[in-house]
Amino acid sequence: MLRIGLLTSGGDCQALNATMRAIVKTMVNRAAEPVEICGFEDGYQGLIYGRYRVMEASEFEGILALGGTILGTSRTPFKRLDTPEADGVDKVAAMKETYRDLSLDCLFVLGGNGSTKTAHRLAQEGLRVIALPKTIDNDTWGTDLTFGFSSAVEVATTYIDAIRTTASSHGRVFVVEIMGHKVGWIPLHAAVAGGADVCLIPEIPYEMDRVAAAVERALDAGSRCAIVAVAEGALSSEEAALPKKEYKKRVASRTAPSVAYEIARELEARTGRETRVAAPGHAQRGGAPDAQDRVFATQCGVEAALGFLEGEHGFMVAQRGGRMCHFALDEVAGKLKRVDPSSDLVREARALGMSFGDE
Ligand code: F6P
Repeated sequence: MLRIGLLTSGGDCQALNATMRAIVKTMVNRAAEPVEICGFEDGYQGLIYGRYRVMEASEFEGILALGGTILGTSRTPFKRLDTPEADGVDKVAAMKETYRDLSLDCLFVLGGNGSTKTAHRLAQEGLRVIALPKTIDNDTWGTDLTFGFSSAVEVATTYIDAIRTTASSHGRVFVVEIMGHKVGWIPLHAAVAGGADVCLIPEIPYEMDRVAAAVERALDAGSRCAIVAVAEGALSSEEAALPKKEYKKRVASRTAPSVAYEIARELEARTGRETRVAAPGHAQRGGAPDAQDRVFATQCGVEAALGFLEGEHGFMVAQRGGRMCHFALDEVAGKLKRVDPSSDLVREARALGMSFGDE
């Protein structure tokens, strides 16, 4: 009998259930012995407090297209891993205890950067752990893709399409704020797919004069509206030059609710054009996974399960150059994958006339 644990940790995304289904189906089809599945509730919290349920393989049927996570999720920040919980519980010790009490053969962690760092820590503590790259942000180092990203781009793009019709009717400028945490993968892809005039991402600091000039150019060229796609983590060149602490202070002292509102206020002042802010927000993580995410999530789940059945652990499943592979957790944990400002897509977007606010 094999006994595996499953947990989904951090911000949710669209293809978590599709990934777990693939892990379980592969186990059932390929394991030489029966498999017992322990589903931990609400991410690492379930592992800390021993909140799990023994699940039937049938519970993972019919969830390929279901958004969210049937296990629930929560954030257990890596930087506070060694700080006891409010009730005094030592998180790492408690997780090890649950794992050992259940005699798990492996723990599958579906998580983003922080969760993968915790998975790495648990592996260092002697647990058999396999990580799977979940996040809409696509910022996981070592893999070209993360599951959730494609669906989030789809939501953000559809949102820009909808904003464009009302922006055009009213002759307005719209600043659309798009998620992505500290990187610009979703905003960049949605800006290209949605035909935005300007795209501001953390990897390419902007100058307000240049953003305003790009908006004027779009309107002068005959467009009735201008769309500025702004990453939630976008920053000006002046902010980018600040030491990290100073930048954080600057963000904390914002009078506007977010960077998009600051930019909109400045744009309206400089161009005299009526400017609005819109944001798809958490809808970017919601709803059904798109076809690409279903396929990639399935590949990740299958490869993770096959890797385990072949006796491997301590790795994250990844895709590099179209091929599925494994990366040692040692190599992946703690690194961020950012947009390369000299990448093909940025170069091509510039060739189309899209401004990144830097030139
Ligand atoms: O990591 C996914 C993400 O949606 C980021 O894009 C965003 O910055 C963050 O999570 C929002 O977190 P929360 O759901 O805690 O508001």
